[in-house]
Amino acid sequence: MLNGKKILLGVSGGIAVYKAVEVVSRLRKAGAEVRVVMTENATKFVTPMLFKEISNNPVAVSLWADNPEFYAEHIKLAEWADILVVAPATANVCAKLANGFADDILTSVALAIPETKPILICPAMNCDMYANVATQENLNKLLGRENYFVVEPEDGLLACGTSGKGRLPEPMDIVEHIDATLGECYGDLVGRYILVTAAGTRENIDPVRFIGNRSSGKMGYAIARAALSRGALVTLVTGPSCEITPCEANVINVESTQEMYDACLAVYPVVDVVIKAAAVADYRPHKTVSQKIKKEKDDKFNLLLDKNPDILYELGQRKKKQILVGFAAETTKVVEYAKAKIVKKNLDLIVANDVTQAGAGFNVDTNIVKLIDAKGKVTELTEMSKLDVAHKILDKVLSLELGSYGKKQR
Ligand code: CTP
Repeated sequence: MLNGKKILLGVSGGIAVYKAVEVVSRLRKAGAEVRVVMTENATKFVTPMLFKEISNNPVAVSLWADNPEFYAEHIKLAEWADILVVAPATANVCAKLANGFADDILTSVALAIPETKPILICPAMNCDMYANVATQENLNKLLGRENYFVVEPEDGLLACGTSGKGRLPEPMDIVEHIDATLGECYGDLVGRYILVTAAGTRENIDPVRFIGNRSSGKMGYAIARAALSRGALVTLVTGPSCEITPCEANVINVESTQEMYDACLAVYPVVDVVIKAAAVADYRPHKTVSQKIKKEKDDKFNLLLDKNPDILYELGQRKKKQILVGFAAETTKVVEYAKAKIVKKNLDLIVANDVTQAGAGFNVDTNIVKLIDAKGKVTELTEMSKLDVAHKILDKVLSLELGSYGKKQR
């Protein structure tokens, strides 16, 4: 959603200004065009030159500039932007925005932004200033407006030496919030609720050992990110993974197949789409022991296993309005096995891949998949990033959904 988007970043005077610099850099890397508006106080922390160089655009710092880039600059910038992001937003700027003040370039631009465009506020300040009733009232007032979104500050060590809620989130997270906000306003999955499962499940043998698999979670996390950036509401049920959690998703961490089963069934009745990218352990030890199993003299060791529930099969049995997407990780007869899974599990779509192929499968950033729908139509995709694969899956889901139900109300 960021590619080609016009992002106006409003920077006010707080120590977290340094993070705003990285936000600009990351946005540009994602293909967005960025312009920066600074309050006078912000220029005391860093010079406009830094933002000019990093955004590759002039920086507006005053309503009274001798040579503004545009005539009536605050109006033109508001017209230009797809979104206004204020990061960091000081308590003072939040108060001014909440009450309609327009005494500098940033607050004047904000007032000129039409209600059809989003304004994302990222407050950052001392924890007592943040907790103060006045600040909270101002933020609630902003949240009450249709086009305003507020990112909660993080808890942690603050520049003033105290610890508490008031830190500006990391630049990567701010960019994700911008992406998701744009998705919510302009995305083609707005109003859709998608359940994504990711990573592998683990079955404990004893306190130090488990049965697991090679899934990293990269594919499932990419699907969650792609869906969020297109405006969907996302619940991510995930096994253990080193991937960074998408901050806009409702994340449910699980370990075992039974836990994943319980989490999926709990949200299933209200979701529109399920994408089951997780690699699920099909069996679990018959007995999990509480003490570490010691080596015996015998050269053989038998582990008796019980079958786990097939989560996707169970979802298929209970399917009502949902679109059900499965994955088929195969090492041979990919299309044949994948088609059999569509029928057996009552799926609408399956994403099949040969996990032995270079550039596909577990723990790599790319994938090579075939999308097979319930009519047997096979769409072969070339090697591409897992994020691109995620978007292709969502495109296909959208075409199936529209085909079955007609266009939903936005
Ligand atoms: N799946 C599931 N619950 C299981 C096993 C698999 O929900 N107990 C889901 C996976 O998340 C995936 C799809 O079913 O979306 C296919 O998983 P896969 O491991 O390829 O196939 P299995 O059904 O386990 O069959 P097999 O291992 O025999 O290939």
